[in-house]
Amino acid sequence: MLSRLLGGSSPAHAELLSYLFFQPEFAGGDRCRPRGRIRPMSRITTIYDHRTTATEVAAGIDLSGRRAIVTGAASGIGLETARALARTGARVTLAVRDVAAGEQAAEDIVATTGNEGVDVAHLDLADLASVDAFTSAWDGPLHVLVNNAGVMATPEGRTAQGWELQFGTNHMGHFALALGLHHALAADGAARIVSVSSSGHGASPIVFDDLFFERRPYDPSLSYGQSKTANVLFAVEATRRWAGDGVTANALMPGGIWTNLQRHWSAEHRAEQEAFAARAGDAIPMKTPQQGAATSVLLATSPVVEGVGGRYFADCNEAEVVPEIRGLTGVRDYALDPVAARRLWEVSLELLDAARADAA
Ligand SMILES: NC(=O)c1ccc[n+]([C@@H]2O[C@H](COP(=O)([O-])OP(=O)(O)OC[C@H]3O[C@@H](n4cnc5c(N)ncnc54)[C@H](OP(=O)(O)O)[C@@H]3O)[C@@H](O)[C@H]2O)c1
Repeated sequence: MLSRLLGGSSPAHAELLSYLFFQPEFAGGDRCRPRGRIRPMSRITTIYDHRTTATEVAAGIDLSGRRAIVTGAASGIGLETARALARTGARVTLAVRDVAAGEQAAEDIVATTGNEGVDVAHLDLADLASVDAFTSAWDGPLHVLVNNAGVMATPEGRTAQGWELQFGTNHMGHFALALGLHHALAADGAARIVSVSSSGHGASPIVFDDLFFERRPYDPSLSYGQSKTANVLFAVEATRRWAGDGVTANALMPGGIWTNLQRHWSAEHRAEQEAFAARAGDAIPMKTPQQGAATSVLLATSPVVEGVGGRYFADCNEAEVVPEIRGLTGVRDYALDPVAARRLWEVSLELLDAARADAA
């Protein structure tokens, strides 16, 4: 599965396409023309790489008085993202579906950072009623929203609204969350949304005529891939629509990290994948959760990406567009396609409206 999700064994074989330096839709969409300051489309590189930790990225950043939300912050990359944000002095809300686990994580973050401003709130992204309850309860401006939570390779399943589980959780839940928090983000004046995607997006574009695997056999890799493509397209369209409100969104691949994400793999499959990663060595460098959180924290806090939106990063650098994902760092052109991004937004809105009408 890892080899399949990552798309091959060696990034050295990847043929890189020249980067798309200009996206007309993004730069000047009709009714959504950004009024804010948006940086021109040149590829962003930093001094950081796959070894960099979230703590290193956050060093020297002061977000005192600002607020941040991290979804799925009770474990893995989300926990380390929240910890690094707490180190900046921001007040951080851990948005979690297991509140007891969230409270333990909060205690740990307070103890390691000295920042007492760590809150825990219930959020189940697979249930629109829970997302709506979370957004209704939110009060005041929001500076950073990290859409980090996710599920991978689940057996076939459905959310409370009947949406396919991986697309429903990873994309629809975060889409509804961001929409519900838009007013709070806009109130900040310079807010950032961080959309945690994956190189797994290389497994599938958005299949608009069968989003929920109703006309084809369910495939956990294709389903995960589609949901992770949606995470990138969300960042593209959110920036086009909301940059004028001072809200930008970027997507990222955190890297390969052994976490609870792989919980649906069999022990045998996990062992095979660990052996594959070990054989691949530097071609597929596995990271610690602290390293895995670094790109999220860069996008959430760094001046390097101020005013930047609609882009995809990996290892703390903007990714290059590649014809096929063979390693951990490239991005497919279909994930950055502004037309698909707009269509996905409209379809997602229709799904939300239909679900709310059904519930009424
Ligand atoms: N690890 C990697 O190699 C890797 C690679 C590429 C991308 N990513 C992405 O990184 C993100 C974080 O994953 P991770 O590796 O840190 O895995 P993780 O430790 O399993 O974290 C995922 C978090 O999402 C939460 N979550 C799952 N379903 C949820 C729901 N319905 N509502 C609210 N929260 C929910 C989980 O909560 P519970 O504990 O309650 O289930 C968990 O805390 C994911 O978006 C994943 O796709 C990870």
